[in-house]
Amino acid sequence: MTQLPKSSWDSSYKSGFTPWRDTNPQVESIIEKARITSGGVLDLGCGSGEWSAAFARKGFEVEGLDYSDEAIKIAQSQTTTAEFTNWDLEDLERYPFKKEGYELILDLKVLAFIKDKNKYLQTIANKLMGIFFLQVFHKHDEKPSICVTKEEFAETVLKFFNVKSEEILEPRTGKVIGTYYLIKK
Ligand SMILES: C[S@@+](CC[C@H](N)C(=O)[O-])C[C@H]1O[C@@H](n2cnc3c(N)ncnc32)[C@H](O)[C@@H]1O
Repeated sequence: MTQLPKSSWDSSYKSGFTPWRDTNPQVESIIEKARITSGGVLDLGCGSGEWSAAFARKGFEVEGLDYSDEAIKIAQSQTTTAEFTNWDLEDLERYPFKKEGYELILDLKVLAFIKDKNKYLQTIANKLMGIFFLQVFHKHDEKPSICVTKEEFAETVLKFFNVKSEEILEPRTGKVIGTYYLIKK
């Protein structure tokens, strides 16, 4: 687990070295599995905004937060219907949320970088009115620092949420990706 400086994220987005970026996110299957057809989506660590933009195109009211200026610039160029804000997720509880609660909260490969996971997850639980969709690397040979181990997952995430459904992918040796649909305990 590592907290990367904001400047290193800015450099990645500026140089275009963003291997995590999904330029064609399939939101339909999430909508179907989460059984949520409308409402508010909070995209935490939204990066360059592909997921936010895709949910906005489906008619959701989307707020995307990220502390990389470069990421936010790209995100804002993707869509004008989602709202993007430069915000440090370590201070998520101080963010001026537009809504009382959100039908869908997304954390796609961000939790590993959050130092105070308990505080962050508690705020998510407070604002959740539906599904918390979380994607984490449990194992990654090349960069173990970007992982949330299964033990850490159990000690932090499962303190606040129950798993509604999960998919654990092992696309190749040394790499395990967990995708979770979570509901508030
Ligand atoms: C691996 S990228 C994933 C981006 C996006 N969720 C996606 O799937 O394309 C992690 C993102 O988390 C953001 N991030 C990391 N720590 C953060 C923090 N403390 N506050 C806000 N954003 C943070 C980075 O700037 C980066 O955009």
